[in-house]
Amino acid sequence: MKHRLKANEHRPVIEVVKNYGEIPQLECFPGQLNQVFLNLIANAIDALEESNKGLSFQQVEDNPNRITIVTTLSEDRHHVLIQIQDNGMGMSENVKQKLFGYLFTTKGVGKGTGLGLSISRQIIEEKHGGQLTVTSELGKGTELAIAIPILS
Ligand SMILES: Nc1ncnc2c1ncn2[C@@H]1O[C@H](COP(=O)(O)OP(=O)(O)O)[C@@H](O)[C@H]1O
Ligand SMILES: [Mg+2]
Repeated sequence: MKHRLKANEHRPVIEVVKNYGEIPQLECFPGQLNQVFLNLIANAIDALEESNKGLSFQQVEDNPNRITIVTTLSEDRHHVLIQIQDNGMGMSENVKQKLFGYLFTTKGVGKGTGLGLSISRQIIEEKHGGQLTVTSELGKGTELAIAIPILS
């Protein structure tokens, strides 16, 4: 995603904060998980760009676009948790109810397919027996949280 994170004429670089904890190795489908991470990061970038609308380069620089990636072990030590947070536009209650739906998108034709989160949820829940959940506050930001069980 490097090319989408870097600065352009409208905004400075999107900061990526990596807060990686001590987590064990786990059995997974790495190619599919990679697809999930790309989907979540692409959505975060879209939300940040949406939140920049109407703001000058300087205004965005004063309150930088930021994506935070957190990995931790759950308290019961049975799950690996991966959180992708952004300080973008957030979403309404209405969108929150629907965002994992097949073909649900709020983006324009040619921009959104509405497939990313529905496929991501399938990969996490059906292929990995985990959970993909959302927390969001309109105008403040969003967190997508992945929990994957450690089977051993
Ligand atoms: N980080 C986010 N911030 C705000 N809204 C989001 C975020 N991630 C997803 N959404 C909302 O969920 C919808 C569905 O996402 P997704 O399934 O990836 O489809 P698409 O990105 O093609 O629209 C998006 O159109 C958007 O409205
Ligand atoms: Mg998407």
